[in-house]
Amino acid sequence: MKSDLSEVLYTSDQIAARLAEVAAEIDRDYEGRDILLVGVLNGAIMVVADLQRAMRSHVEMDWMAISSYGSGTQSSGVVRILKDLGVDIEGRHVIVVEDIIDTGLTLSYLMSNLASRKPASLEIMAMFRKPGAARMDVPVKYVGFDIPNDFVVGYGLDHAGRYRNLRDLAILSPHVYQ
Ligand code: PRP
Repeated sequence: MKSDLSEVLYTSDQIAARLAEVAAEIDRDYEGRDILLVGVLNGAIMVVADLQRAMRSHVEMDWMAISSYGSGTQSSGVVRILKDLGVDIEGRHVIVVEDIIDTGLTLSYLMSNLASRKPASLEIMAMFRKPGAARMDVPVKYVGFDIPNDFVVGYGLDHAGRYRNLRDLAILSPHVYQ
């Protein structure tokens, strides 16, 4: 994979250190309450796995799969649910976990959908966020890192299904996708 990358933005150690800080913040905010983490497949798999193991609170997880139609490098903004939650979230304390917020369109749709199911609380944790690409203002409570508007891969983020298993977050070299 290494020859396909132009720059490492965050190493796995830096990601783990930041996740530990975010996990401690969530533990403090939710003291005495059980948390349901809702991961958005596939990219959030790594974050959900690492975040919950860094937490001390009681935590459960569930998953949703969303299709944004298309395999380009830009989000289309059109979403549909491919896999819905397995549990009823009414009265639950829900944190939606994403690997990245790009335009914000996916989470914008997802949050209004989940809010209609009457959770006791509903927040967002995103490992990475691209402020420069935002098209929707999404209220994100917990952010790992704000990153530049480059094509990044690793730590769950893919290009055409590859690079998710890279432990670091890195900029993909343009020769790979141009
Ligand atoms: C990525 C990411 C978010 C979404 C963010 O998912 O995991 O769900 O794009 O983009 P947005 O803010 O512009 O909506 P993707 O559709 O690439 O699927 P994946 O998680 O399976 O990689």
